[in-house]
Amino acid sequence: MISPKMEEALNNQINEEFYSAYLYFSMAGYFAEKNLLGFSHWLIVQYHEELAHAEKIYKYLIERGGKVKLMAIKQPDSSWENPKEAFGAVLNHEKYITGKINELVEIAEAEKDRATIAMLQWYINEQVEEEAKAQEILAKLEMVGDHAAGLLMIDRELGQRK
Ligand code: FEO
Repeated sequence: MISPKMEEALNNQINEEFYSAYLYFSMAGYFAEKNLLGFSHWLIVQYHEELAHAEKIYKYLIERGGKVKLMAIKQPDSSWENPKEAFGAVLNHEKYITGKINELVEIAEAEKDRATIAMLQWYINEQVEEEAKAQEILAKLEMVGDHAAGLLMIDRELGQRK
């Protein structure tokens, strides 16, 4: 059985993951509005990944005899200054989520909850990848600056994401 403290923290993380999904879904709309459909596609894939992150914790909580408690999802931004600012926001958000995962590990350690520590290892690895992906796209956007041709090249590349 999971401790009440761990249960509450995991429920909070389900909400954080849903917010991540909501943020990227919102951002996908922003890029679609600008006809940058490759960026939009990439963010829709990311939106689905975030939903899967939420679901994984949700299922784990149930498996451990915990109670799922869904909360209201905060409203995300719906516009950004430019693509570079948008991906700067993605990177910052992923760093924030990494911090949240680290906090969960600390709680699990304090609760001596080895099963949760093991489950969270997947998220630790995933966050390394999430930050790296956002960092790479942001670096490319910084490289191309205001050049439309460069932006369209990145858009084409991001449109290939499976
Ligand atoms: Fe669920 Fe993008 O971390």
